Amino acid sequence: MKTTIAEVAKHVGEEVTIGAWLANKRSSGKIAFLQLRDGTGFMQGIVVKADIGEDKFQEAKALTQESSLYVTGKIVEDTRSPLGFEMQVTDFELIHEAVDYPITPKEHGTEFLMDHRHLWLRSSRQHAVMKVRNEIIRATYEFFNDKGYVKVDPPILTGSSAEGTTELFHTKYFDEDAYLSQSGQLYMEAAAMAFGKVFSFGPTFRAEKSKTRRHLIEFWMIEPEMAFMNHEESLEVQEQYVSHVVQSVLENCKIELDTLGRDTDQLAKIQAPFPRISYDDAIQLLKDKGFDDIEWGEDFGAPHETAIAEAYDKPVFITNYPAEIKAFYMKPDPERPEVVLCADLIAPEGYGEIIGGSQRIDDLELMKQRYEEHDLTGDAYKWYLQLREYGSVPHSGFGLGLERTVAWISGVEHVRETIPFPRLLNRLYP
Ligand code: 4AD
Ligand code: MG
Repeated sequence: MKTTIAEVAKHVGEEVTIGAWLANKRSSGKIAFLQLRDGTGFMQGIVVKADIGEDKFQEAKALTQESSLYVTGKIVEDTRSPLGFEMQVTDFELIHEAVDYPITPKEHGTEFLMDHRHLWLRSSRQHAVMKVRNEIIRATYEFFNDKGYVKVDPPILTGSSAEGTTELFHTKYFDEDAYLSQSGQLYMEAAAMAFGKVFSFGPTFRAEKSKTRRHLIEFWMIEPEMAFMNHEESLEVQEQYVSHVVQSVLENCKIELDTLGRDTDQLAKIQAPFPRISYDDAIQLLKDKGFDDIEWGEDFGAPHETAIAEAYDKPVFITNYPAEIKAFYMKPDPERPEVVLCADLIAPEGYGEIIGGSQRIDDLELMKQRYEEHDLTGDAYKWYLQLREYGSVPHSGFGLGLERTVAWISGVEHVRETIPFPRLLNRLYP
């Protein structure tokens, strides 16, 4: 009977066949240990010369790394492995022999591994990160579907900028100019006025010349947008959403978190509500921590975010930033118009900002004023203004960066390992 490694628990004591690749191998004169992987997981296969016969044993000993095979054998419990099961191999059939697989069990440099990303994805650690990513995606759809949000897909090719004009990828759209989307938000606001509560999940592009462990050129963002919701209500959605995602990974990715060596005690603490600190208080906190040069009105860099996050063991919302350093669409605090009703959610353990969100300006006149201040002209912005002309309502939304969230929950240092084929400042291959 054909099965997969993920399903072996259902076949203890039975003989099954699995299509697999040979990840690694150890052998002595009488016994060979095959590390098998089939995409669904990793499992050890034991080949005993006395059981399988001399010829087949020699064939097993000659198997090369990443060769593909059908392996047949009996599934038995094995309490020492993370999987909990192994196979006593009774037969195998080589499908394709891999010669000189470039990624060997020895250490390789990052650039070498990135050049072989199409193969590196097969390794147990990369496999675990991608499984965590997949679980975050699954839990995201579950969370928003259960709460009655409608998934709406904003366009990727756009005629305008959502977040800032300097970071746009330009392309020709027949004889017009077009840009790759930096954020679907402006379109999601239109969608919220049509469907109430919506979310998008798609690729976004930032032509930023940033080369840090937190920056990708192409990354995936989840962007919920809610009509009739104020800033504080949006923060509650955010903390519930992030808690749900973390708890889902803890529940459904035990083997993967073990493979990654993730400290799960840190993750178990991630339960709503999350602490909030105002931008004003964050400035004071930084001064107290010895950041003497930071002044009110300046944006925070990675070291500042890390220092603020260190004060908490959960993600922390930094709220009410100065209007000057935030996007044109954010609603000013009615009591204090120099700050806006916004928050960045900073992950613990130095992983930085994972969410940016705000309440949006719903007043037509104020939005027109912002257009002038930010020099936003042309047809591309006309439709966005009309959302404030016809039944404008208070509304809020946010964007969660998938890869930074995967990096934090998996405990991997750099976002380049959190997306199958990363697009980085100096990398478009493979
Ligand atoms: O803070 P950002 O720029 O916010 C927006 O784009 C809003 N329009 C979202 C909204 O309100 N609908 O980006 C949101 C998140 C960041 O918090 C970060 O997690 C991620 O997207 N992000 C990046 N991730 C990887 N590489 C980059 N270059 C990123 N830039 C932003
Ligand atoms: Mg941001």
